[in-house]
Amino acid sequence: MNSQAPRYFALIPAAGVGARMAASGPKQYLKIGGKPMLRHAIDAFLFSDLIAHTYVVVSADDPFIDSVVPSHGVTVLRCGGATRMESVRNGLAALGGTLRDNDWVLVHDAARPGIDDALIEKLITSTGEHPVGGLLALPVVDTVKRSIAGEVGTVSREGMWLAQTPQMFRYRLLRDALAAASDSARDPRQVTDDASAVEALGLSPKLVEGHPRNMKVTMPGDVRLAEMYLATAQPELL
Ligand code: C5P
Repeated sequence: MNSQAPRYFALIPAAGVGARMAASGPKQYLKIGGKPMLRHAIDAFLFSDLIAHTYVVVSADDPFIDSVVPSHGVTVLRCGGATRMESVRNGLAALGGTLRDNDWVLVHDAARPGIDDALIEKLITSTGEHPVGGLLALPVVDTVKRSIAGEVGTVSREGMWLAQTPQMFRYRLLRDALAAASDSARDPRQVTDDASAVEALGLSPKLVEGHPRNMKVTMPGDVRLAEMYLATAQPELL
């Protein structure tokens, strides 16, 4: 293989506190089927032959991570920020001497334990050499309502997708996009995924159909649902 051929790296931001989960500790350490949620995500990337290395971003003072990461194949970056975007930015900056501009980075939320090697492979092969990048997402099937200050309206679901992760972009493009998003006048808290920063540059990533099992565990009731998905066999991928 050409030594300059792009490689695929996983970056898992795991520096959140999971306020909506109302748990006693950060939600990425809640157990799903007896295993910390974050470890499910780590194991999926470790299991994938396509991923060169996996990085996890946690807060500088995270007391739990050392007991959760396996001894090989994962590097912990203690540079989490105040928002998801900041955590990803800091993680990418820490990899400045390691990753090349054209390497692919798959950013994946620690709160999605249902990811597996089949979905990782589907994202990578479907995105291929796309000039922008790609992300897993699900087409919206329900009727969508928007309620603002008591005024309710229906939003057409045509062309609507729900973004999942991983979201994969070239290292340089993602760094530049997140830097531009931080510098812009927009509220950085609105940049809730990596793709939105890339889209703000006027670029369109590829949407690759994901799977409901790759749900984000956000509310207390989501834990049981995630356990049900994890108890089932790998999905039949389209
Ligand atoms: O809170 P939410 O589920 O949207 O977080 C998505 C992901 O971003 C989680 O994996 C969480 O740990 C991570 N995150 C982070 N740094 C923050 C906030 C969230 O790494 N400051």
